[in-house]
Amino acid sequence: MELQKNTAAPTGPVLGIETSCDETAAAVYDPARGLLAHALHSQVALHARYGGVVPELASRDHLRRLLPLVAGVLDEAALEGRDLGGVAYTAGPGLIGALLVGATAGMGLARAWGLPAIAVHHMEAHLLAPLLEDSPPPFPFVALLVSGGHTMLVDVADFGAYDVLGQTLDDAAGEAFDKTAKLLGLPYPGGPELARLAGTGDPRRYDLPRPMLKRPGLDFSFSGLKTAVMMQVRELEQLGGPGDQDRADLAASFQAAVVDTLVAKSLRALDASGRERLVVAGGVGANEQLRASLRAALEARGGRVYYPRIAFCTDNAAMVALTGCLRLQSGTAPSRVVKVHPRWDLASLV
Ligand code: KG4
Ligand code: ZN
Repeated sequence: MELQKNTAAPTGPVLGIETSCDETAAAVYDPARGLLAHALHSQVALHARYGGVVPELASRDHLRRLLPLVAGVLDEAALEGRDLGGVAYTAGPGLIGALLVGATAGMGLARAWGLPAIAVHHMEAHLLAPLLEDSPPPFPFVALLVSGGHTMLVDVADFGAYDVLGQTLDDAAGEAFDKTAKLLGLPYPGGPELARLAGTGDPRRYDLPRPMLKRPGLDFSFSGLKTAVMMQVRELEQLGGPGDQDRADLAASFQAAVVDTLVAKSLRALDASGRERLVVAGGVGANEQLRASLRAALEARGGRVYYPRIAFCTDNAAMVALTGCLRLQSGTAPSRVVKVHPRWDLASLV
């Protein structure tokens, strides 16, 4: 996509760096030519035997992987560091040690090349990710952000104007997928595995709760749903199960409950804000059932839903480079010191 903004400060291509959790990634985004290169190293294999992300291992692996990835994307874009307009890095929210690797590398490279360094909010980057696609959503829109660490509905009046309409009171949607997958004996990372198993199951076999749907408001709660699955697994264990079909049916029933809840709350958020466009981003946005259900629901009301491509639903540096570029163009002050924010309120951005 070519950026159509009134540029306060025209910028050259921006290097993006992402190290907030368990993916190391680098990308180059050019305001005139779009995405020039992106590369990613996933740490899934490193953490798999622990059943979840081990923060210290994550930081050390980012340290090993990041600079070769940066060199690779610059090479692919046929650029030298000094040709760039800035360096953007994810400064939060995320794991503090992991964030510090990307932040120190980003600041160091920016200093060495004499460029501005831009601290990017990971969730802002997720919600802007659909702008990397060919038919990007115009502002304003509502964003449903569903990742391993967050579940929120955000009213996006314009770039940088974010109003959090609702969020999860306990587990994030991705976390619920991951914990439920563990209960069903699936390997880490559980979300995509559970979705795969759900494809062979009957979503109507188990009547699981649709949390918080009867109450007004736009907040979510997923921990009760995970407990309901646990109770069902215990009951099946008393009977010598669960068998393969029981597990598939439980996975399908769980997925249907999460999807129904996310769809209903998204429609409620559109009604409340008077918007017609919905952007879905974050790792759970890769879920095919969620994508199909939201597409149908939005079509039925004459609206439209926008997704990034699957690879840009989960963590990546393309969205960080794009966000850094927009931030530079809109006049956001460059970072002067290395500072990360393991917790960072999206609504605090201006
Ligand atoms: O955005 P992301 O890559 O990282 C965070 O910032 O959290 O999201 C990762 C989350 C994990 O919980 C993962 O299980 C979930 O997204 N996920 C999925 C699917 N693909 C990834 N959940 C359900 N269905 C999927 N297809
Ligand atoms: Zn993320």
